[in-house]
Amino acid sequence: MKRVITYGTFDVLHYGHVNLLKRARALGDYLIVVLSSDEFNKIKNKVSYYTYEQRKIILEACRYVDLVVPEYTWEQKRNDIQKYQADIFVMGDDWKGKFDFLSDLCEVVYLPRTPDVCSTKVKKFLQEHDANK
Ligand code: CTP
Repeated sequence: MKRVITYGTFDVLHYGHVNLLKRARALGDYLIVVLSSDEFNKIKNKVSYYTYEQRKIILEACRYVDLVVPEYTWEQKRNDIQKYQADIFVMGDDWKGKFDFLSDLCEVVYLPRTPDVCSTKVKKFLQEHDANK
């Protein structure tokens, strides 16, 4: 069985995320998503609309996702890969080259991002069209 691992915040889940998850899962038989905890989002200066628990519920409902676990630090990746016995580490190509240092542990793959969509854009649109403004 081939295990694939990927990381992200996955706030207000959109089709770009689903495209990434689908292609990541297709590289193996089991997909682990290491999901940014609320604490880690703070470290990254990211503000998410949904909490960790809410984002986890949504990801767990996605047919391509087998397991969701929290991300607390930048440094936990090596440990995660070993703990979950990941064969392939996948990220969108906005991270190209950034995780090559993990290639002694597993295969590192960068998938092309889906153009024209990101959580920031969705949240900005919703803010600008907020009927209660
Ligand atoms: N991703 C993708 N295509 C997009 C948006 C995201 O393939 N259009 C991928 C990212 O490359 C990453 C994963 O989805 O591997 C999770 O990305 P995340 O940063 O949570 O999503 P974004 O929509 O990019 O969020 P933000 O706008 O907050 O940066």
